Amino acid sequence: MIVLGIESSCDETAAAVIDSRRGILSSVVRSQIKDHAPYGGVIPELAARKHIEAIVPVTQEALKQANISLNTLDGIAATFAPGLVGALLIGLSFAKALAWSLKRPFVGVHHLEGHLLSPFLKPEDSHPHFPFLGLIVSGGHTSLYKVNDFGRYELLGKTVDDAAGEALDKAGKLLGLPYPGGIAIDRLSREGGNPKAYDFPIGFPQRDNLNFSFSGLKTALVYTVKKMGAIRDKEKSIPLEIKRDLCTSFQEAVVQALIRKAFFALEKTGLKELVVTGGVAANHRLRDEIERKSKKIGIRVTIPDSKFCTDNAAMIAYAGMIRLERGQRDPFSLNAVSRLPLESL
Ligand code: KG4
Ligand code: ZN
Repeated sequence: MIVLGIESSCDETAAAVIDSRRGILSSVVRSQIKDHAPYGGVIPELAARKHIEAIVPVTQEALKQANISLNTLDGIAATFAPGLVGALLIGLSFAKALAWSLKRPFVGVHHLEGHLLSPFLKPEDSHPHFPFLGLIVSGGHTSLYKVNDFGRYELLGKTVDDAAGEALDKAGKLLGLPYPGGIAIDRLSREGGNPKAYDFPIGFPQRDNLNFSFSGLKTALVYTVKKMGAIRDKEKSIPLEIKRDLCTSFQEAVVQALIRKAFFALEKTGLKELVVTGGVAANHRLRDEIERKSKKIGIRVTIPDSKFCTDNAAMIAYAGMIRLERGQRDPFSLNAVSRLPLESL
């Protein structure tokens, strides 16, 4: 089965083609980072406009790279929830129109299901085995799921305030780093910052609480920076070596918070497999620490390649293909939904 996947839930316009026999044939992602950078965050109206401009050329490029024509497609999948409604509507409407005109089946995919299944884009011998623990860490979500099977997700814990990526992005903004802060902090901390230079708090330290909280950490950074006499808009007055240590210590607190909860959850559920996915799973320190700790206690861990951790359409095409293979068809009346718990599917 050959499936076209479309993703437009936030600030990436993406299209990908997957073949159930040959794997990923193409994955094209056009990021809007440069468009939103001057505002320091994603502007929903701008995101929707940029998706309109990009959706046709990005899809054409995905078909070209896959070396197939539209008629070869057996089905079409698109993200329908959660995300920015204006952004979602562009990819979703486009995918539905394409499916209708080609007379092919259409299926809507939950963005978080795409992330959770992204490790299946790896070669088969690296696939996770059900049931596994899934940690999603992105700009919009930080959640732990027990993944029992395709389509069977149990929420174990989630952030009660900011997502991990959101906290990193806000920290980056406060320190005057380029947008998005998560990537800039990762880069700066790899230049030799000290993770122990500042003692930042970790939210909900209790073992029996699998939720996350990052707002206290963000406030602690604000106070630390204020104490230095450097307030907003004057961040550039912080010397680079101090900024590097602040970033590295802040990142360390985020990483340790994520790891702590993931390993508490493994302990509590008795699961022996862990999957880490979402944009923040591209973070070098998080990847290294999770792999080191998992090895030490005999947990099998799967983290997708970085390009499949951040938003992409290959994960949507894969999740769509699984649903289409199982006979799911969605009506063209399927609408975009901004918030929808994955476990309600
Ligand atoms: O999954 P994603 O592309 O979009 C959402 O669904 O939210 O995640 C984007 C988030 C942003 O907050 C970005 O700063 C963060 O992922 N991110 C990183 C890295 N690459 C992307 N955070 C830390 N280190 C990275 N290398
Ligand atoms: Zn995402």
